[in-house]
Amino acid sequence: MYTTDCKDKEQLMGDKGLASVILAAGKGTRMKSEKAKVLHEINGEPMVRQPVRAARRCGCEPAVVVVGHQAEDVGQALAGEGVVTARQEEQLGTGHALLCAEEALADFEGSLLLLCGDVPLIRQQTLEALLERHRREKAAVTVLTARLDEPHGYGRIVRDGDDVQRIVEEKDAGEAERDITEINTGIYVFEAPFVFEALRDVGCDNAQGEYYLTDAVEVARRQGRPVRALTVQDPREVMGINDRLQLAEATAIMRRRINEEWMRRGVTLIDPDATYIEAGVQIGADTVLEPGVHLRGATSIGRHCRIEPGVVVTDCAVGDRVHIKSGSVLSEARVGDGTDVGPMAHLRPGTELIGENKIGNFVETKKATIGRGSKASHLAYIGDAEVGAGVNIGCGTITCNYDGVNKHRTVIEDDVFVGSDTQFVAPVRIGKGALIGAGSTITKDVPPQSLALSRAEQKVIEGWVARKRKKQKTK
Ligand code: UD1
Ligand code: CA
Repeated sequence: MYTTDCKDKEQLMGDKGLASVILAAGKGTRMKSEKAKVLHEINGEPMVRQPVRAARRCGCEPAVVVVGHQAEDVGQALAGEGVVTARQEEQLGTGHALLCAEEALADFEGSLLLLCGDVPLIRQQTLEALLERHRREKAAVTVLTARLDEPHGYGRIVRDGDDVQRIVEEKDAGEAERDITEINTGIYVFEAPFVFEALRDVGCDNAQGEYYLTDAVEVARRQGRPVRALTVQDPREVMGINDRLQLAEATAIMRRRINEEWMRRGVTLIDPDATYIEAGVQIGADTVLEPGVHLRGATSIGRHCRIEPGVVVTDCAVGDRVHIKSGSVLSEARVGDGTDVGPMAHLRPGTELIGENKIGNFVETKKATIGRGSKASHLAYIGDAEVGAGVNIGCGTITCNYDGVNKHRTVIEDDVFVGSDTQFVAPVRIGKGALIGAGSTITKDVPPQSLALSRAEQKVIEGWVARKRKKQKTK
């Protein structure tokens, strides 16, 4: 890890504060997509959120995101992240992009952490080390660099010892410069008043006809201000996403990072490369995740749970000692302690299993509260329902909750026994301890402790089949 002797946040922020600018106006042609590059997802979230969060965690205020392509959508993807957006109507280069953020930073005289929306794997610790170097060296610019065996495509760092003299784009570089393996990651700390003034002097007389942010380095040197560099230890952190191959690669790196963290915290992952856990998920110790499990959104999983292959859990609160069997799908549901779900159960939004429940194969629940210890072990639909404790719901039970216009509720009180193949035509209430005979269609309320039965009486006509066959043969 980096050796930082100045971990104190306040010191890293500097006397005049710390802001961030995140460049995210480009289209990303090589993605071959209708969607702006920074909106493509890594581990279930638009990639631009990653650098934004890293900046926020470093204490940057404000964080200004420069948007251009699909500006509204990019702004939307960052709703709730506490950012300000600035427009860059035409993409005239990175230097021009930063200038577009100047208005949003009027009167700001502190330091600027500059990040790119398409460099999502950057870590907070690395940015803090960069800030620390910047402070210690009292630099005007500190650039984060990387050493790459294959530096093709990147700007090269031209150094004289600790002093960075210039950054030259590959397209503008001479042969000797192209041999340099230290590259510009596109991440920097600038003194804000310096860089905005410097960029006004920067022209676009270069191979790409763009306003290069990197030209600020030479302006600093002309003014005799220090320009320093920090080399990132793990170059994977600064990988830029340009195409779908890199998107998949970055996703795999991110997944590993998250999964390793959960393993360190006491969660067993049978196959970490095939376990998909989004950033907002919480998991208790001694829980086991089998291959092909997807935990998404604001999901929390308790301790001592077992989640079998192919389970997808989105925005759910799952308690302790819960066993979710293969192929189950859970969304916006609460699952109490000691419950068994699946295989192939579907818990839809508004499901609340109080605890010690059993929801078996091919059972679907929606907007249903199911009391302690109640079971629906096979093939059932329970929607818009309130089920008490100790209830047994037989195979094939259906709450008929929808009359084509409105939804109606089924209430089943404690200790009711529902025989197989029952339909509850809602609204209907079943009193405590009642028994519903198998195959019943229940259209009226059932008082407590009573038996309700609505089967048509069985008819038996002896010899009917034999007689029918005989008739057919003589025809
Ligand atoms: C830039 C650097 C290069 C560095 C590389 C690292 C310059 C001149 N070059 O090159 O030294 O090695 O990043 O990835 O800065 N953007 C805008 N508006 C623009 C142009 C770019 O918002 O007008 C954004 C892009 O969306 C992207 C970032 O800035 O997020 C970098 O732009 P890109 O075109 O990829 O820069 P490079 O040419 O790769
Ligand atoms: Ca790039």
